[in-house]
Amino acid sequence: MHRGKVHPSLKYFLDSLKNYKIISREEAAKRMIKPEEVLQHNTLQDAWASYKGSVYNLTPYCKFHPGGVGSLTSYFGYDITKVTQGIHAFVNVEMFLSAVIVGTLDGEPLVPK
Ligand code: HEM
Repeated sequence: MHRGKVHPSLKYFLDSLKNYKIISREEAAKRMIKPEEVLQHNTLQDAWASYKGSVYNLTPYCKFHPGGVGSLTSYFGYDITKVTQGIHAFVNVEMFLSAVIVGTLDGEPLVPK
């Protein structure tokens, strides 16, 4: 990712969200979600993940991930803060996912065993 440029995968992803109901960060701040509830959303059709205290719907993003869907599946329902910092700390994950925010994580983040 280069400063001042939008990654092509982000552009295609945002263009795909025409029929998606985007909620604001303010709205998301009011929706508290327990880590156990995040964990219920662990399929490709319904995939949530937490990142730095917020909960996101990964489903619309999956097919645009440059690292493929396969690298994401084992994290469905879990926290992706540490793993994404390890793999691509240079990627601004919040910028990519802000359109698909769901709520605020209310508890300790869960990571896959
Ligand atoms: C859901 C939040 C995530 C976002 C927004 C995201 C975004 C991105 C972006 C933009 C790239 C391309 C980087 C570049 O310009 O070179 C990338 C690559 C990659 N991502 Fe992610 N990623 C996410 C989660 C993850 C997770 C959870 C994993 C693995 C557990 C992962 C694994 C990878 C890998 C392996 C690549 C490298 C692909 C390659 O070039 O071979 N990502 N991701």
